[in-house]
Order: sequence, then structure tokens, then C-alpha cells
Amino acid sequence: MIDRLLREEVRRVPGYVPGRSPTEVAGEHGIPEERIVKLASNENPLGAPPLAVEAVRRAAERMNRYPEPLAERLREAISRYVNLPPECILVGNGSDDLLEQCAKAFLAPGDIAAISPPTFSYYRILITMQGSECLEVPLVEEEHRYSFSEALIDAASRAKLLFLCSPNNPTGNLLPESILKEVLEREVAVVVDEAYVEFSGKSFAPLVRHHDSLIVVRTFSKAFGLAGVRAGYCLASEELIGYLARLRQPFSLNLLAQEAALAALQDEEFLRRSVELVREGRKLLSDSLRRLGMKVFESHANFVLFRGERPDLPEALLRRGVIVRGCSSFGLDSRYVRVSVGTEEQNRRFLEALEEVL
Ligand SMILES: Cc1ncc(COP(=O)(O)O)c(C=O)c1O
Repeated sequence: MIDRLLREEVRRVPGYVPGRSPTEVAGEHGIPEERIVKLASNENPLGAPPLAVEAVRRAAERMNRYPEPLAERLREAISRYVNLPPECILVGNGSDDLLEQCAKAFLAPGDIAAISPPTFSYYRILITMQGSECLEVPLVEEEHRYSFSEALIDAASRAKLLFLCSPNNPTGNLLPESILKEVLEREVAVVVDEAYVEFSGKSFAPLVRHHDSLIVVRTFSKAFGLAGVRAGYCLASEELIGYLARLRQPFSLNLLAQEAALAALQDEEFLRRSVELVREGRKLLSDSLRRLGMKVFESHANFVLFRGERPDLPEALLRRGVIVRGCSSFGLDSRYVRVSVGTEEQNRRFLEALEEVL
């Protein structure tokens, strides 16, 4: 009976596939959990920012109180970080939350939204949930990198919303400014997901001042090391932020997350070390993987996509206690693997395990 009551979209929505957890893998393979190296979810390998840990401890005493509904202090701090006014900023329960508000704001049944696969799978889930049609404009695979297709410009004339990701997950490539500027000329809302922007140094946030159809979505889960508390934000014109704000839950960013994010923005030393570790580790992983005969794709993020010959590589690494991301859930064949950049020790353990497997 329940089947008949459900919205049709709910039946069609593809479930999100998260990275495997160390607890799960430890149980399955009989490996002590502390021996497991997780390089599957692009988390910060340095742990949480020390200032954020302190701030959350202090804030815990106030858990009986509701948080600031619009997170005024946090929006002020983000405003200084991104150099845009607080009125152009909306915060939420991770960037997933803001991506969802964008889908809800623009997409109705029968509308078209475009994505460039392989890309973050949540966009398709959101489009399907709205009853809209997902138009795919695939990235182009070149010898050592992926790139966005000029066909996006045509798609922008047909779609109501574009979900673009820069640097893109799982391929690591950047969106060229020339393509973005072309699509912004069309009558279409454009979401640029900058979850990994701190590792690339290339942001489109300044364009928000001049384009009221652009929404830049950002997160505290990656470079800022707060994936577990859930905090994200988006940047757009004041008018559009006003509409998106109407769709959010009244207290979508909880008290601990607000304090953690505020402190993480102050912890400049942690951010600097995180970005440096990723840039060095990314180069080491890319060079080493190439030496091992893999096809490696240029990355501007905190992970590296590579392709080997064996389709069972993620499983074989799992048996040695190393969790990486096989890319079949991204629609690639199972020889494509995404590995997050870890600490020096984690990168070394991954490379040793890989050599053993090969
Ligand atoms: C491209 C992209 N966007 C958004 C997210 C979700 O981030 P958050 O933890 O802020 O919800 C991820 C997580 O891996 C991601 O890869």
C-alpha cells in the first residue's frame, strides 16, 4: 500500500552512496580499526581545527538554547573571508543543505536541470526529487585531465538550473571562467559548487557581485576540517539569498556547528597547514601513481583520480586496511579510483598497499 502513497519521484530517486566507514571495514575484514587508513571521503587528515574543538567544548554548556537563527556572527566572519556583504551569505547544515535549497527554489516537475558527469552524485538526487529532468553534458576525458564541454553553453539555453562543480568531484578539474561567463549570459540559474576551492586557489565568488543568477556554494567540511558537525554556506545576490532563506528550516545550522565554523575561520594556522599538506601530498601521490603505471588525472582538489588495469583494486586495498573510492557510483568503470590526500604516513601506507596488490 505504501508504494501507492509515495510520490513517484521518491521511487525513482537514486540513493546516495557514502564512502565506507573504518568501523564497517574493520568488522568485515578483521583488521583493528586503528590500523585502517580511510582515504575515501575527502576529509581533512589533520583532524579538527584546535580552536574549533575548544569553541565547541565551551558552547556545549549552552546546548539548551536555540542557536542564532541566521547565524549573524558567523555570516559576518564569512563576509570578511569571502569579501562579500553578509546579506549575500546564507548558512546551512553542510553544503548539501544549500544545494537542496537551490533545487527547491528553481526546479518543479518537468523542468530541466543540467549536470556534467562524472560529478558529485547528490545533484542528480536533488533533481530527481524535484520531479525534474536531468540533462547530462559529460566532461571530456583527455589524456591527463578532464575538461568541461562547450556543449554546456547550449544546455544552458535549455535548462533552468545548472549544477557545476569546481574543482569537480571526482575528476579534480576546474571550470573555465570563459564557459561560466557564457552560461551566465543565458536565462538559467547557475550553481557553482566550490567544496574544494581552498585547494585550488580559483574561486568564482567575486562574480556574484555582477551576476544575480549565480550561486556559489561552499563548505566547512574539507579544508576547514568540520565534516562531522555539518556547516556550509552559499553566496549570491541579496535578492536571491532572501528567497533561498525562506526555504530553509528555521534553525538549520545548529549551535555547535556555528561556534565550530566561527572558530575554524579564526584558525588560520590550521587552514594554512591543511592546504599545504594537500598540495604536497597531491603531487607525491600523482607522481608515485604515475610511476606505478597508472593513468593519473590532474587535480586541483584534495583527492586524485587515477585509472589502473584491475577492476578489483578498491576491494584488494580494503583487504589491506586502506579505504579508497571505486568510481562506479560516479558512472565510471570500476578501474577508476579516487584517493583522498592523507597525512604523509597515510599516503605512504596507501602506496605500499597498492604496490603489494600490483
Ligand atoms: C562536490 C561536493 N559538494 C558538496 C559536498 C557535501 O559537503 P557537505 O559536507 O558540506 O555537505 C561534497 C562532499 O563530499 C562534495 O564532494
